[in-house]
Amino acid sequence: MYLLLILLILSLTPLTNGKACLKSHYRSGFNEIRDHKQDAERIISYATQGKFKGVTYSRLANFTDNIGSRLCGSESLEKAVNWTRQAMLDDGLDNVHIEEVSLPHWVRGQEYVQLLEPRQKGLAMLGLGNSVGTGPNGITANVLVVQTFDELEQQCSKAKDKIVVYNSYCDWSLQPLQCYGVTVQYRSQGASRAAKCGALAALVKSAASFSIYSPHTGMMSYDPSINKIPAAALSIEDAEMLWRFQQRGQMTKVKLYMEAQTLPNVVGHNVVAEIKGSTYPEQTVLVSGHLDSWDVGQGAMDDGGGAFISWSVLSILRQLNLRPKRTVRCVLWSCEEFGGVGAEQYFEQHRQELEQMDLVLESDLGVFHPLGLEFAGNAQAFEIMQSIGEQLLVEINATQVVKGDGGTDIGPWMDNGVPGGSLLNENEKYFMFHHSNGDTMTVLNSTDMDLAAAVWTVHAYVVADLDDMLPR
Ligand SMILES: *[C@@H]1O[C@H](CO)[C@@H](O)[C@H](O)[C@H]1NC(C)=O
Ligand SMILES: *[C@@H]1O[C@H](CO)[C@@H](O)[C@H](O)[C@H]1NC(C)=O
Ligand SMILES: *[C@@H]1O[C@H](CO)[C@@H](O)[C@H](O)[C@H]1NC(C)=O
Ligand SMILES: *[C@@H]1O[C@H](CO)[C@@H](O)[C@H](O)[C@H]1NC(C)=O
Ligand SMILES: [Zn+2]
Repeated sequence: MYLLLILLILSLTPLTNGKACLKSHYRSGFNEIRDHKQDAERIISYATQGKFKGVTYSRLANFTDNIGSRLCGSESLEKAVNWTRQAMLDDGLDNVHIEEVSLPHWVRGQEYVQLLEPRQKGLAMLGLGNSVGTGPNGITANVLVVQTFDELEQQCSKAKDKIVVYNSYCDWSLQPLQCYGVTVQYRSQGASRAAKCGALAALVKSAASFSIYSPHTGMMSYDPSINKIPAAALSIEDAEMLWRFQQRGQMTKVKLYMEAQTLPNVVGHNVVAEIKGSTYPEQTVLVSGHLDSWDVGQGAMDDGGGAFISWSVLSILRQLNLRPKRTVRCVLWSCEEFGGVGAEQYFEQHRQELEQMDLVLESDLGVFHPLGLEFAGNAQAFEIMQSIGEQLLVEINATQVVKGDGGTDIGPWMDNGVPGGSLLNENEKYFMFHHSNGDTMTVLNSTDMDLAAAVWTVHAYVVADLDDMLPR
């Protein structure tokens, strides 16, 4: 998850005839949902107590321990494509294949930030994805610390020939996702805004809710009309220290060195598998997560967990011999972290399926203890999803269906009117680990992953097995 997920403007159809009419119109739909009680119980029991207990976690551990991080454009991501494709074939799923996409190939290289004045100290940093490098001599300059873009504008002339440090502030204890949305702007636009004032480089406080001296990377982008300067994230601790030096009137000087560069695009792949529908195989419920990750950590949480519960949906249905009316398709996206690159090409390649796409789901905000689903769709679709939660997920207390977004990768479908959603989970810790060396299996919990796989499977399966597609 790299972006502030764009708040979709939901086209909520006004209920002109009131709720009663809506209910009666969809009464058969609600009975149908109740009729899936037994299937839902089988799914939940199989995933959380039966043969599938612990499988999602152990598969992901095997995968991340052996393949590690999977940066967009890297050989490691292609290994991950091969690994998951083979594992899905071995799993006996339908229509397992890979689909070609063109991917950007940014590489980090060696990098460091050295504080030179008022004392010598190496600072904890990570270059930002898409950044240019510094050249072999690095960049040595005095520092200007600002807390906001407004502050930078006010002191624009002071930024000339300096390294601008953004020490942005947000109270992360209240609304982590909103704070991410606020602070990530400095990561994504900070370099060009500083360059406009004549700065030589930009250093950004990590967009993270907590730190034990851990820098968090992420994607940045350049305004094409402004010269490109290097950009890196500093640990929260170091950004705040630089700010304190400035507050005391102490001049600070740092050296930034980055070998980062963007190589030519490479051929990459999205991985696809299905459970073919029995009655309307051309109509699809899509479940997904992204296979790529940052090059630090292991991409276990972001987004190994989301990708692997999506694969588990198909495994569980197959092993329980549950074949819904519509096709359930799992897609593991390549290159979400550089802006949903693989998914955008997938949408272009599959645009003709727009009318047949029933529901798109992506889990990219953690697979912690699940509470239900975040969902965006019209009022009628919302009631159907709520009814699935309330009628079929009581046993594991994951009944909630709340208004929310999907994920970057399913955005193009949702922008074109397809109902979509994401896993609602207790993800308060997500931004502690996100895009850092701390994103490892240790963050995840096998029991919670089983519960999440059950929630994901019940929603996908029941929607795929209703008589009608979700209204939109
Ligand atoms: C780990 O993954 C490899 C490659 O798919 C597979 O051959 C092996 O059986 C897996 N190990 C376990 C313990 O599942
Ligand atoms: C992935 O599999 C393809 C086809 O078998 C092979 O050509 C390629 O070398 C593999 N890639 C990696 C990185 O292992
Ligand atoms: C069920 O979840 C809600 C929050 O979604 C929580 O307040 C409640 O304590 C939970 N109940 C049980 C039995 O876990
Ligand atoms: C894992 O999650 C389960 C269910 O939410 C919980 O009971 C258990 O304590 C968790 N384990 C750890 C090590 O946190
Ligand atoms: Zn992600």
